[in-house]
Amino acid sequence: MKKNIIEIKNLIKTYEQAGEQILVLDGVNFSASQGEFISVVGPSGCGKSTFLNIIGLLDCYYGGEFNIFQTDASKLSEEEKAHLRLTKIGFVFQFDSLLPEFTAIENVELPAMMAGRPSRKAAADLFSAFSMEKLADKNPREISGGEKQRIALLRAMRNSPSLILADEPTGNLDHNNAVKVLSDLKKACGLGTCVITVTHNLSLARDFSDRIFELKEEKLFEIK
Ligand SMILES: Nc1ncnc2c1ncn2[C@@H]1O[C@H](COP(=O)(O)OP(=O)(O)OP(=O)(O)O)[C@@H](O)[C@H]1O
Ligand SMILES: [Mg+2]
Repeated sequence: MKKNIIEIKNLIKTYEQAGEQILVLDGVNFSASQGEFISVVGPSGCGKSTFLNIIGLLDCYYGGEFNIFQTDASKLSEEEKAHLRLTKIGFVFQFDSLLPEFTAIENVELPAMMAGRPSRKAAADLFSAFSMEKLADKNPREISGGEKQRIALLRAMRNSPSLILADEPTGNLDHNNAVKVLSDLKKACGLGTCVITVTHNLSLARDFSDRIFELKEEKLFEIK
């Protein structure tokens, strides 16, 4: 059976704005397992990034229960969270996040170097596995937006994470490039990684996701 890696019960999130408490997530329940491709959709400002940031251990100010990798997230120290973010969680964002002073393969190597296990060969193998060998030695300035996003995904995958969190990874891309990025993410699922993406594109989400959730009026609904 596939291991459950996220279990969320009755998640409540509020922000303070101008002295007032704004409720963003109100009693959200959610779980995700190894190898699943999950999309979260919803209008701008409904709390999608907020939800992803909590799952990614970037925000610890919430109510309710949140278990990640069979561990109560509220019991993790800052150091333990940083270690999990580096070794077990890969992040992909909407806008280009490659460092321009490094080549594509050096960008992909960064998380492995930070984790103390660099291997140029492993990075090169990742480029080959995704048929991107030709891009490895290029500078981010020399490659297209779609290609950059696929390299950012290789970087997110470099430490073989159990979980990839992608916040509108295709928001900035045309249809063909969006399909390429989502196909890459789907391939990561095939290797056992759980992928959770936030998107505004419901029709693409339908093509690629095992399950789709909609965030609406502070609640999360499973719609596929
Ligand atoms: N750090 C913060 N402090 C106060 N309010 C915040 C903060 N971050 C987000 N918000 C508010 O919380 C709500 C949810 O924001 P969030 O960024 O999660 O939305 P989103 O669904 O990701 O939107 P988008 O699709 O535009 O990216 C919004 O009303 C936003 O203004
Ligand atoms: Mg957002």
